[in-house]
Amino acid sequence: MTGFDLTKLLAERGAERYDLHAKHINHQLPRMLHTIGFDKVYERAEGAYFWDADGQDYLDMLAGFGVMGLGRHHPVVRQALHDVLDAGLADLTRFDCQPLPGLLAEKLLTHTPHLDRVFFGNSGTEAVETALKFARYATGRPRVLYCTHAFHGLTTGSLSVNGEDGFRDGFAPLLPDTAVELGDLAALERELRRGDVAALIIEPIQGKGVHPAPPGYLRAAQDLLHRHKALLIADEVQTGLGRTGDFFAYQHEDGVEPDLVCVAKALSGGYVPVGATLGKDWIFKKVYSSMDRVLVHSASFGSNAQAMAAGLAVLAVMEDEEIVANARHTGDLLRTRLAALTDRYELLHDVRGRGLMIGIEFGRPRSLKLRGHWTMLQAARKGLFAQMVVVPLLQRHRILSQVSGDHLEVIKLIPPLTIGEREVDRFVTAFTEVMDDAHRGGGLMWDFGRTLVKQALQGG
Ligand SMILES: Cc1ncc(COP(=O)(O)O)c(C=O)c1O
Repeated sequence: MTGFDLTKLLAERGAERYDLHAKHINHQLPRMLHTIGFDKVYERAEGAYFWDADGQDYLDMLAGFGVMGLGRHHPVVRQALHDVLDAGLADLTRFDCQPLPGLLAEKLLTHTPHLDRVFFGNSGTEAVETALKFARYATGRPRVLYCTHAFHGLTTGSLSVNGEDGFRDGFAPLLPDTAVELGDLAALERELRRGDVAALIIEPIQGKGVHPAPPGYLRAAQDLLHRHKALLIADEVQTGLGRTGDFFAYQHEDGVEPDLVCVAKALSGGYVPVGATLGKDWIFKKVYSSMDRVLVHSASFGSNAQAMAAGLAVLAVMEDEEIVANARHTGDLLRTRLAALTDRYELLHDVRGRGLMIGIEFGRPRSLKLRGHWTMLQAARKGLFAQMVVVPLLQRHRILSQVSGDHLEVIKLIPPLTIGEREVDRFVTAFTEVMDDAHRGGGLMWDFGRTLVKQALQGG
């Protein structure tokens, strides 16, 4: 026995969590959480719920930014992790072939019959970095195209294809990549004609603001890319594994067969970081073209047994519990019920998305009564109204959600894919109450808006 006792450590020092974070990690996180009153102490979680120390339940409409596709602590994934630890495998020797990576690759590829091989890394951004490297190497071309407002992760390669200045500023020089407007085929063709483009990387539904690629765009872009001997990379880090009501979001459209597909988040089962880049045989054969190049792209923790076991368990649960179909049905129900509210609330402008990836967009009200409040918030900072909705959803209704990116009046819902009618009812009821409150035009909610304005003006 060593002196290490995790349970004791948590019991003794768990209460210091916010102070420790402020002192040793990113001090702005606790600061932000204190400001908006999100500084809760959650003690326990299961499925789509957390519980605080008083035993109050919180509904999770965020799923750890999409990591908790199956909700928290799914018993099958948990058991697989117990089993893999108990098996005492000779993992990560690095000079043998373990069974679990091959089995997970085989299983993943059943969902993309046109692809042949998988590279396993440890995160979404690493899955993207892999795709960028493979595309450049396979085509022998330097430039990657990406969409304005795109998000593909925050390491330097992924940042080079990030469509937001807020993330990029101050980190130059980045790679010589170029943004094109989502849906603009003429712009895409113009760039392709220069003959130096390796690939276009795209989220089939853009996470920032929840913007689906326009109908027909992915197929047309793919045809253009292939005509110019460039590749299509689908970033399914957020949209993949059932989130949008198809196993992969690109499958919503017939005939779309990306050359490389990036996967991460939900494949982890919420436990073990993992990234996977699925691709065509010829691309992998080119990158790993000789024995000398066997480690030309690799990761020390890639393919580790815990990640592979969690991934295999996730895919098995997805089949057994018909998770993709549930995401589609429950997503349709939630979107339809929310969309029905757009006639009732002048501040509610749009409800969009697919499956359980839903954007709720707010906009300028018609009535004079509300317009003054709205204008005051917009003048201080765009996105404050959406924040004003997210806060009472948590404070009054114990529902965790998020604003879909800086300066956006959009709330993004990406709950666990296991939710059902009960959670839809709870969300819609709470949202209706918050919107009723906002449309009354006075009271606590707009007072809180003024507090946010003050915070926004102070900065720091
Ligand atoms: C579409 C997309 N790609 C890549 C990433 C980066 O993933 P990670 O945070 O695991 O690096 C994200 C993360 O939100 C994402 O949404």
